[in-house]
Amino acid sequence: MNKKQVEVWLRERDPVKLQELWNRADAVRRKYVGEAVHLRGLLEISNYCARQCAYCGLFAGNTSIPRYRMTIDEILTGAKRAMECGFGTVVMQSGEDYGMDKAFITEVICRIKTETPLAVTLSLGERKDDELLEWRNAGADRYLLRFETSDAALFDAIHPPLGRRRVDRIAFLKKLQSMGYETGSGVMIGIPGQTYATLANDILLFQSLDLDMIGMGPYIPHPGTRLGSTPPAACEDQVAADETTVCNALALTRILCPDTNIPATTALATIDKAHGYEEGLARGANVIMPNVTPKQYRALYQIYPSKVCIDETPEYTAKLVQERIIAAHRTIGKGPGGRFDAHTETEE
Ligand code: 5AD
Repeated sequence: MNKKQVEVWLRERDPVKLQELWNRADAVRRKYVGEAVHLRGLLEISNYCARQCAYCGLFAGNTSIPRYRMTIDEILTGAKRAMECGFGTVVMQSGEDYGMDKAFITEVICRIKTETPLAVTLSLGERKDDELLEWRNAGADRYLLRFETSDAALFDAIHPPLGRRRVDRIAFLKKLQSMGYETGSGVMIGIPGQTYATLANDILLFQSLDLDMIGMGPYIPHPGTRLGSTPPAACEDQVAADETTVCNALALTRILCPDTNIPATTALATIDKAHGYEEGLARGANVIMPNVTPKQYRALYQIYPSKVCIDETPEYTAKLVQERIIAAHRTIGKGPGGRFDAHTETEE
């Protein structure tokens, strides 16, 4: 599929044509990654952030939210709860929090690796090379960093650099791959200034980067942020931040990157609380990342408003998600569910 064709599919709204695209994506998903839906327990370990991203509620200048940083024991308890919920992976995510230093994260990884069979995924922002290397050596398996958009001018407009250090996220992802991390990335869909041509480029970039995981969700305006409070005038050819566009992007990504892991994201489940996960799973997704953050911290990790499950416990969230997967006639993945683990072994 060339860029023009991807662009045409992204804009498609004819229900008959859409069904054709979605069926094709679903068939590719079934053939390459099977029926299993892998569950990754998402543990939001700190909401401190050094960055000033124009769209994210955790931006450093947001003085209206209390900040928290989980202790080692809280993180270990969280990881063990993920394991008890039947998940094969714990994803530790935070703002770009240099208060969680190299040694702290190393110790967390070592303890999780010693005390549980979990795969460990890190999603801690643009951290330094020596940190990434040490964490990989300590046993971290995967790293997630969305490049958010392949349009460099748009990226720069919404991601003020930290000091004078501007990080090229594409180079960063290649570095992670060379360190041996299973590497994940992704974009927001419908960020102001994103055109259909840009989104088509994003999807072709996923393919050329040969990513192990690709996450996509709708942009959800946060009123406390620069973009949310003063949105720019809509650009010509602005991508819609709606469910159909997200599903089209998911389906195209599955078709172009057939064996990658693609989550039905929390943001998608947030704009369609009743059916968001199911829609994602039917359009190419094979992963869900249920939140296992302790209840008292969930409301403080609002990268966007109205996030699902902020008043639930980890066990409740897990049970609900598992029931929804079974109701969607899919199976629960077992084990870590990495890209190169044979999927037949991970199905029930
Ligand atoms: N709407 C949707 N997604 C968002 N993210 C951050 N802020 C928002 C928002 N307002 C996404 C980014 C980030 C991921 C952790 O959450 O893509 O990489």
